[in-house]
Amino acid sequence: MRRATVLVLSSGIPAATIAALAERFDLLGPGDPDEIDALVAAHGARIRGIATTGKARLDRALLGRLPALELLACYSAGLDKIDTEALAERGIPLTNSSAALADEVADLAIALMIMARRRLVAADAHVRGGAWAKAAFPLGRSVTGLRIGLLGLGHIGSAIARRAEAMGMHPRYCTRRPVAGCAYPYHGDARALAADSDVFVIACPGGPANRGLVDRSVIAALGPEATLVNIARGEIVDDPALIEALASGQLGSAGLDVFADEPNVPLALRQLDNVVLAPHLGSATVETRHAMGESVVRALERLIVPG
Ligand code: DGY
Repeated sequence: MRRATVLVLSSGIPAATIAALAERFDLLGPGDPDEIDALVAAHGARIRGIATTGKARLDRALLGRLPALELLACYSAGLDKIDTEALAERGIPLTNSSAALADEVADLAIALMIMARRRLVAADAHVRGGAWAKAAFPLGRSVTGLRIGLLGLGHIGSAIARRAEAMGMHPRYCTRRPVAGCAYPYHGDARALAADSDVFVIACPGGPANRGLVDRSVIAALGPEATLVNIARGEIVDDPALIEALASGQLGSAGLDVFADEPNVPLALRQLDNVVLAPHLGSATVETRHAMGESVVRALERLIVPG
């Protein structure tokens, strides 16, 4: 029986995963958009599966050129570049790696929160630069006992909440609908959650539905002692409003792993010392990237008919 053809839509999937896929499937790609276009033109009719990092756009037009598509496996949590509605209309299942990466991203969210509130980047510079001998480092802000608001309570939001509870924090959350069986206080909108949070963590999907969801009014509801953490997608936050609030002291601090126009980060943000910045490291460990690769291989194995 002929092996199923799988298109690797974007680069960034580790070599070990590509090798595991190549053992099982006829692989096409990865390639730049022109190369993908040419591959789809030549082989679109027999492509049954797609592996993607979620960074390449997969729109309705491209999907329309893949009549045999049965399954899409995403090597990331974020699906914001994928037209999930068009996939759903055709009943094509889509898997992501959020279960494989949730703990790693949650660890980073907690780290950013502590680093921002204890000003660890500035503290490190204080020691390295020899300032410690001349002056004590200023006091930071605590996290124990604080209310932590989770905008999104999927795999990642839940993993953050578990960690926060273990640290003596009090989770509350905002999602479209209350999560069945969840005992944390629920808020139906982001502003109400912000008004009830000392630390506000963005852990919801990006994409058009949530673009600009954390707007000026949500940021204003947080206050001068609060911390905003974003490990989701940069586009969810109104950047000018965030920068203004941090610069004026209306918002206490922020820890950011994601940005609207990565890898470009606004200069105004880079100049603020009450912000901790990371280059989208959420899932970036050897162990988790391996687990994410495995999840893609396992998902696509559904295309293999026992022979
Ligand atoms: C993802 O996989 O979408 C996350 O951004 C990981 O950091």
